[in-house]
Amino acid sequence: MTAQSPWVRAYTNIALIKYWGKADEQLMIPQNNSLSLTLDAFYSETRVTFDSKYAEDELILDSVKQDASSLKKAQKILDFVRSQAQFNSAARIESKNFVPTAAGLASSASGLAALAGAASLAAGLRLTRYELSALARLGSGSACRSIFGGFSEWEKGHDHESSHAYPIDAHSDQLAMLFIIVKSQPKEVSSTQGMQHAVSTSPYYPGWLTSTKDDLIKIKSAIQNDDIKQIGQIAESSALKMHALNFSSFPPFNYWTPESIEAMNHVKILRNNGFTTYFTMDAGPNIKIICPKDEVQAVSQYFEREMPSTKRVCAFAGPGLQWQNAQGEWVPYHE
Ligand code: PMV
Repeated sequence: MTAQSPWVRAYTNIALIKYWGKADEQLMIPQNNSLSLTLDAFYSETRVTFDSKYAEDELILDSVKQDASSLKKAQKILDFVRSQAQFNSAARIESKNFVPTAAGLASSASGLAALAGAASLAAGLRLTRYELSALARLGSGSACRSIFGGFSEWEKGHDHESSHAYPIDAHSDQLAMLFIIVKSQPKEVSSTQGMQHAVSTSPYYPGWLTSTKDDLIKIKSAIQNDDIKQIGQIAESSALKMHALNFSSFPPFNYWTPESIEAMNHVKILRNNGFTTYFTMDAGPNIKIICPKDEVQAVSQYFEREMPSTKRVCAFAGPGLQWQNAQGEWVPYHE
């Protein structure tokens, strides 16, 4: 038997309220709800072929065969799909990343969301958006939010079915996110290792859980009011609290470099000069600036002047999961 999916595309998402800590390592159920914006600038395209003649699963990323550790996350999705569809053929995953891999730019979110979509299509499963989001979560937690376009919230839930993202119905077209890429190199502490260590050793972890609940209520109200200043303030505070968990772990660790701190300082200088700029930062050294669409050009030019060694990529709200039809057009995965 051989069954091939069409190409499926998923866009990356950046959390405004961060996910940092798992309640269930195996099922990837988080300790807290999180909220993100799916972006148009970075994405992954993936196609899956199941064939009973294949000896073992393989993952080809940008034409390079990946080792067993990268394949492991993908296999959690493949295994779930195989058990649902009741067959056990091995799979060949072909994936193209339009994202610098492993640089804190969330390539795992778009990659594993696209894989969930492609693997289930190849196996003939017709999953709802929520089932697909839960499936993507098994590969990488943050991937569950990339099934949806615009803003989405990952409801932590309590088991496989209940832990998935859902879209937040709100305008997202006035917001811009400017990536200040200080360097692109694989990170030393993976997000999985980092969050595990923070949950088990940071004395601030209980405080993180309490304050995140509050931040979620406030940011959802700011999103409904299209209040970019409020969104930025809450998002920046959430990111700094997440990083404070890492600084307060034992032994401590962090993802910051001198360039990250320099970029954060520039965001504050811009703010003092009347710009509505705030930053967020993930498990890597790059800074993402949240600002209104009509300020982003000037902010980018400022960074080009002040930090010429950085790369800058401007992103806006992006769409949810898509697949490529026979005419080569990208259409929504769920009509
Ligand atoms: O799902 P992972 O393992 O890529 O973890 C994502 C963690 C952060 O990006 C730091 C926060 C988030 O909510 O995306």
